[in-house]
Amino acid sequence: MSNSLVIKNRIKKFKKTITVSGDKSISIRWVLFSSLANGVSTAKNLLFSGDVIAALNTIKKLGIKYKIKNNQCKIYGKGFNGYKYKKNLTINAENSGTLGRLILGLLINCKKPIKLIGDKSLSKRDFKRISDPLTKFGAKFKLKKNKFLPLTIFGSKKLKPIHYIEKKGSAQCKSSVIFAGMRTNGTTFIKAKKSRNHTEVLSKHLNLPINIKNKKKYDEIKINKVNNIKTLNYNIPSDMSSSAFFIALTALSKKSELKIKNVNINNSRIGIIHILKKMGVKIIFQNKKFYKGEKIADIFVKSPKVLKSINCPKYLNSGAIDEFLVIFLIAAKAKGVSYFKGLQELNQKESPRLKWGSKILNKMGVKNILTKSTIKIYGNPNLEVNKKIIIKNYLKDHRVFMTSVVAALSFGGFWKMYDKDSIKTSFPDFLNIISKFK
Ligand code: S3P
Repeated sequence: MSNSLVIKNRIKKFKKTITVSGDKSISIRWVLFSSLANGVSTAKNLLFSGDVIAALNTIKKLGIKYKIKNNQCKIYGKGFNGYKYKKNLTINAENSGTLGRLILGLLINCKKPIKLIGDKSLSKRDFKRISDPLTKFGAKFKLKKNKFLPLTIFGSKKLKPIHYIEKKGSAQCKSSVIFAGMRTNGTTFIKAKKSRNHTEVLSKHLNLPINIKNKKKYDEIKINKVNNIKTLNYNIPSDMSSSAFFIALTALSKKSELKIKNVNINNSRIGIIHILKKMGVKIIFQNKKFYKGEKIADIFVKSPKVLKSINCPKYLNSGAIDEFLVIFLIAAKAKGVSYFKGLQELNQKESPRLKWGSKILNKMGVKNILTKSTIKIYGNPNLEVNKKIIIKNYLKDHRVFMTSVVAALSFGGFWKMYDKDSIKTSFPDFLNIISKFK
């Protein structure tokens, strides 16, 4: 079967209600926390995607069993010190930065060296940002070219707590250090630039010894040694980042309406909502509720008459970090010039996404000016694409693929996208849901 997708037709106006798959960040964290719990944890609506299956395979290699039945996943935790460290163990994080980085925090006391590998994309990503702080706890690392996978972690029995300043706004760095702090006697202090806070929310829900002070631009986190984690039955809400493709599709359509059910609307994840509202898209949260410390709602979106350009404030970046590719599409159709700054972290993702955002716009004939951390996009409310566009060699970045599909359906032209399998990483159901719109 061909692994490419051709789109030749634009989407017609629509009024729809959809449900997207479970949140990837919460799914991976549920797997990791449950693998350390005393007993059996069950998840409903766990995201069954490549990244999450890689997390399940990882805990299995560490001696923790799981079962999937009737769409439910059960993990048979053996307690906070229940991992088994076999000789010559290799863990494969595949495409998942979150898994690769978070698991290292939990392995700082491993009794035997463990090798961590990943796919081609993950092997190009920075792991020094994790090995540096974890080395301060007392673990040791050997990395390819001092920065990349494959790496080997050598755990230590003599761990000491650290003071850590997280300046990138990376939830993966922050979470890895929180996990390491849980393995260490004494108090670890973290001052972290704002980023998604699911690890902290789950830690609090589980009554772990964590203390958080929220300041305007950063959070102060104190974490002490954990001895026990109770089991965690969890009904995973839908993923804002997966919802983003459909929100964008609606924002780029005429006279359309969309409702997405039961989405995680954690404040640290809704940057795209703030940005699109500023650009003139009508978005309303309905049926808001709290669930185990997380906020959930149905999202109602209506396509706007005109899209306004934006000078996007930097403070919205971390809450929209996975959504900028589609936000750039919206800027391409806005009236005026949009400007996005402080986005150097986008080039650290599954592919260099700031560059790919610009590349897609160039292919569409949208003028844009790119630097290492900024992009200026010259919008055109009458934008139409009338040519052939090929999307390939993008390191199979799932979000590049899905963004291209949204662009093809919104702007027209003849699009051929290679590697449609890339969606398996985060959103295997994406094309099924898209097919309901045609
Ligand atoms: C994630 C954190 C973000 C995000 C990624 C998921 C997480 O990465 O881009 O898709 O679940 O912690 P960084 O921590 O590198 O910003």
